[in-house]
Amino acid sequence: MVQALRVGVAGLGTVGAALIAQVTRQHAALAARCGRPIDIVAVCARSKGKDRGIDLKKMKWFDDPFELANADNIDVFVELMGGSGDPAKSAVETALATGKSVVTANKALLAKHGVKLAALAEKYGGALNYEAAVGAAIPIVKTLREGLAGNDIHRIYGILNGTCNYILTRMEQEGLAFADCLKDAQRLGYAEADPTFDIEGHDTAQKLSILASLAFGTKVDESAIYVEGISSIAPADLAAADERGYRVKLLGVAVKTPKGIEQRVHPTMVRKDSAIAQVMGVTNAVTVDAVGINPLTLIGPGAGGAATASAVLSDIADVARGLRVTPFGQPTARLSGVQKAPMQRHEGGYYIRLQARDKPGSAATIAKRLAEQEISLESIVQRHAKGAPEHVVKGGSVPVILLTYATSEDAVRKALAAVGRDKVTSGRPQVIRIEKN
Ligand code: HSE
Repeated sequence: MVQALRVGVAGLGTVGAALIAQVTRQHAALAARCGRPIDIVAVCARSKGKDRGIDLKKMKWFDDPFELANADNIDVFVELMGGSGDPAKSAVETALATGKSVVTANKALLAKHGVKLAALAEKYGGALNYEAAVGAAIPIVKTLREGLAGNDIHRIYGILNGTCNYILTRMEQEGLAFADCLKDAQRLGYAEADPTFDIEGHDTAQKLSILASLAFGTKVDESAIYVEGISSIAPADLAAADERGYRVKLLGVAVKTPKGIEQRVHPTMVRKDSAIAQVMGVTNAVTVDAVGINPLTLIGPGAGGAATASAVLSDIADVARGLRVTPFGQPTARLSGVQKAPMQRHEGGYYIRLQARDKPGSAATIAKRLAEQEISLESIVQRHAKGAPEHVVKGGSVPVILLTYATSEDAVRKALAAVGRDKVTSGRPQVIRIEKN
């Protein structure tokens, strides 16, 4: 008789509960597809008595995740506790060191310890599968590791944080302020416990570090990523982008350049007719540019119980089928260190919004400082907001919006520093990078 794959699940939040429900619902189909049943035989969570709307009676209960990771009656340890430290880290290490396979949705753990854990999996023979860690239901890990195993990838970029995309979508469509949209995201449960992590781009950076490793065969290195969030974006920026044929998205971008690999997370202007610009609300998307096949875009739900459980279960199914691929697509010993391209040397077009003092010569001074850095302008518009009061129109300040042709980050920073010293503007300049797509 064929042996069932015995699974232990640590963490019974929304994802754990959705996973158990899906395994129960799909039991027969999974057995047919994998050639053997998948049985969840043990679980572990903080509170045993809590009603999770699922039947746990046939599963052995563990209070301690290490004991579950050590148990000899499971083949796969599913880690759904989260966090880059303990108990998740030690429990995963324990499971791998006892030869078990591990399936995890934990992007923080992989971003910080991915290479070390992959080496453990290789040493002891278990799998380390983590499809759910990036883009939840979007099968981007398998796409990069298996589907594109023979391709030369030169860029990967994506909307990897649903909270930010939800906020930017509402701001754009309804002209609302950032703070109001963030409050709604929190009320609807989209934002993580600490919204800073989402809105300042760190969640996207963790996911990007994993994708970059898969795409370029480098060690996962979150510290190599330049990160800027969306909290300074104003409805005026989204309206100005729209007028010029763009939409603003928080993108994680990893790209091969002659100077090394550039990895960056920042609000980005993308052409409205691109696939990625169509992605609205909490939905995620990833575009891969590889020789001969670009662009390849995957779009789908990037968070939530069912979407994350879907990816976790496909990883478990791979173990049941006996499919084993090295966690980052090649042996860890072959992964190279990231040769980081410095952000100052990034090249591309820029959107710049300045608040200029409304007096003769302000716009000319700004244009002069840009010219000194050999920045070529595609457009410069100085326009009062419709209906601005008389005192603002006379002697107040006025937004100046510039679009540059391709230039360098260094030139933009130097020009804006000089403009600041000239005292012809007030407040901080708003800078949004334009991504060619
Ligand atoms: N907080 C994430 C998001 C979901 O908003 O997309 C989990 O990765």
